[in-house]
Amino acid sequence: MNPRKLLVFLIFPIIFNLASAATAAAHSPENVNLDFPFFTLRNLTLLGDSYLRDGVVGLTRQLGVPSSSSGAAIYNNPIPFFDPETNTTASFSTRFSFSIDNVNPTSFGDGLTFFISPNNQTLGSAGGYLGLVNSSQLTKNTFVAVEFDTRQDLHFDDPDENHVGLDIDSLISIKTADPMLRSINLKSGNVITAWIDYSNDNRKTEVFLSYSTSKPETPILSVDLDLSDYLKEFMFVGFSASTEGSTELHYIENWSFRTLGFSQIRPRINPHNVTDTTVPPLNPPPQIPVSDSNNRRHKSIGLGLGIGIPSFFCVVLVVFGYVSVKKWKGTKTEKILKSELITGPRQFDYKELKFATRGFHPSRILGHGAFGTVYKALFPETGTISAVKRSKHSHESKTEFLSELSIIACLRHKNLVQLQGWCVEKGELLLVYEFMPNGSLDNVLYDYIDNGYNNNNNPLKWEYRYNIAIGLASALTYLHQECEQQVIHRDVKTSNIMLDGSYNARLGDFGLARLMDHDKSPLSTLTAGTMGYLAPEYLQYGKATEKTDVFSYGVVILELVCGRRPIEREGQNGKMVNLVDWVWGLYSEGNLVGAADGRMKGEFEEAGLRKMLLVGLSCANPDSSGRPNMRRVLQILNGEAEGLVVPRKKPSLTFSNSLPLSIDDLVSDCGSPDSQLEIRID
Ligand SMILES: *[C@@H]1O[C@H](CO)[C@@H](O)[C@H](O)[C@H]1NC(C)=O
Ligand SMILES: *[C@@H]1O[C@H](CO)[C@@H](O)[C@H](O)[C@H]1NC(C)=O
Ligand SMILES: *[C@@H]1O[C@H](CO)[C@@H](O)[C@H](O)[C@H]1NC(C)=O
Ligand SMILES: *[C@@H]1O[C@H](CO)[C@@H](O)[C@H](O)[C@H]1NC(C)=O
Ligand SMILES: *[C@@H]1O[C@H](CO)[C@@H](O)[C@H](O)[C@H]1NC(C)=O
Ligand SMILES: *[C@@H]1O[C@H](CO)[C@@H](O)[C@H](O)[C@H]1NC(C)=O
Repeated sequence: MNPRKLLVFLIFPIIFNLASAATAAAHSPENVNLDFPFFTLRNLTLLGDSYLRDGVVGLTRQLGVPSSSSGAAIYNNPIPFFDPETNTTASFSTRFSFSIDNVNPTSFGDGLTFFISPNNQTLGSAGGYLGLVNSSQLTKNTFVAVEFDTRQDLHFDDPDENHVGLDIDSLISIKTADPMLRSINLKSGNVITAWIDYSNDNRKTEVFLSYSTSKPETPILSVDLDLSDYLKEFMFVGFSASTEGSTELHYIENWSFRTLGFSQIRPRINPHNVTDTTVPPLNPPPQIPVSDSNNRRHKSIGLGLGIGIPSFFCVVLVVFGYVSVKKWKGTKTEKILKSELITGPRQFDYKELKFATRGFHPSRILGHGAFGTVYKALFPETGTISAVKRSKHSHESKTEFLSELSIIACLRHKNLVQLQGWCVEKGELLLVYEFMPNGSLDNVLYDYIDNGYNNNNNPLKWEYRYNIAIGLASALTYLHQECEQQVIHRDVKTSNIMLDGSYNARLGDFGLARLMDHDKSPLSTLTAGTMGYLAPEYLQYGKATEKTDVFSYGVVILELVCGRRPIEREGQNGKMVNLVDWVWGLYSEGNLVGAADGRMKGEFEEAGLRKMLLVGLSCANPDSSGRPNMRRVLQILNGEAEGLVVPRKKPSLTFSNSLPLSIDDLVSDCGSPDSQLEIRID
């Protein structure tokens, strides 16, 4: 390259920068004052699942089925928060009315945020990430946000499922407050008005909340912290929200926002003191493609250029925009209406599922369950991932089958793995579920054993274990007592308990027993892995009841605390040990705490551990009348009810002579954990 040309190229950007610096003084920031009594598309960028309807912003998907969803609504223009010329950071004050509603109140989570961020295009992940933070954490998140959180996410040290917090660059709040102190329940569905004020002089952020539209005198949350390190020259402001397998809806009704603290009339100082002799600022700037898009001031210079062409485009755009918004509105309402009618899972096309699983390719197999093989399915149009269960069905009557399916399809709870759809074709039954990236509890607890590593790492922190116990109790309470038609799960075990991104329990395979042939004894094709979870009376009579589920739950709880399988071989060639017996033995010796999983290295809360073990034992009582129901269990774990008195010695049961095999016989029959046992009980 000609050296002279090179010089010119190098010099041009320098001149250009000087030029913009020279004109900067004329463009010093002014206070912003926005007011949206209702919202229009013109002023907002909607990201993810957010939408606008009747002037109200909905931030998460509006479907009557649990979904994981995240969305954000961001004011289009960047807002100046910092003036480098005078080294001042703006104060700000905002007010908005929101509501958090729910089709199914037991399926709540996760909440919404008001945020200020330099970024206007990335949306965060669903779930505990509140649509604010990308779960892969690949990009550094920068934001100042106030969260209105409706779910306790232990990942982020949340105190409870109803709290307000100030978050900076992380969802672990700097400080949280309980709106209940003002008798405000965030997920009540009522309109709540929030005021957030930051005073840069006092270095103080205050959040006020009220069911009414008059601002309370005292804030609910007050944080003394200098935000000037975080409020950069230009920032975007907006709202985000997320759900995680829940039906919670997040609406923003209206909003006003203003910045304060920039003086309105400013002296024209030129801090760089660039003498005007080098660059005549009035000259048209050289036509160099501007790569530094951060410096928005460049635009102001180019503005004088060819005003005619842009304005022509504007007219075309406005006309085009008007027409397409009208059109869009029409189809949108139609779509919403449709989706309101067809709430719940849908029927899939066989072809669609075949394609999404690469023709049921072996590389897509996630696992094998009692019901059939599970495949990972990728749907390219929507970019979503699901799990597809495939089995051959021998059901004679399709209508009967579909009516059973519709019962399952209506089940909704945040601790259930949600059914997304089904397909019955070509003699096959395919069920489509949410995909759970963290796999099953069984995997998490025992992976190292199965893979032969002998690591002593704690696979699951104590808080997660307790949280899983509560989640599972909540799901079973729902199935047994809260849903319209009682559902007995029949197959509660660790491999059926999935873990979502925040290690919350999600019970899978519910209701599948209903889809199997009714007259077939559930024991006729029993895998040895299920053995330790079955209540004695189930083994005897083959009849599943609420109480047999409670028994299985008890075994799972003991596994969670002890990190041992329900039936495990003691030593290399030792005898098989039943977990319930083992824990009960320790309890009789007064050494209950000795049952704790050694991999936790003593890092647990002893009272909680005792509580969980005693709940486990009382559920696994051989005498079904001694077992609590699931609601009671949930209350005990939540500290809302007293624990049960557990007999020091395991109650013994005398079986009627019809039982062909004793439990010990069954236990010693299961040599390899995957062998199928053929047992007939008449
Ligand atoms: C919203 O956009 C319209 C059209 O661009 C504009 O007239 C109005 O002032 C904007 N409102 C706010 C609060 O920025
Ligand atoms: C800007 O102001 C802050 C305090 O508001 C001060 O700490 C900082 O040193 C100042 N910076 C400059 C360049 O004056
Ligand atoms: C984000 O802001 C920049 C600068 O104002 C703008 O050019 C860009 O179009 C915005 N992106 C979105 C997705 O709104
Ligand atoms: C998180 O960031 C990665 C990398 O930038 C991106 O591929 C992914 O889609 C993001 N996830 C979400 C939920 O936005
Ligand atoms: C905002 O919307 C709520 C609910 O529609 C309403 O009660 C409230 O008066 C509105 N506030 C303002 C300032 O318009
Ligand atoms: C700018 O610099 C010149 C000398 O280069 C000096 O005489 C003048 O006072 C400076 N102006 C300001 C505003 O600092």
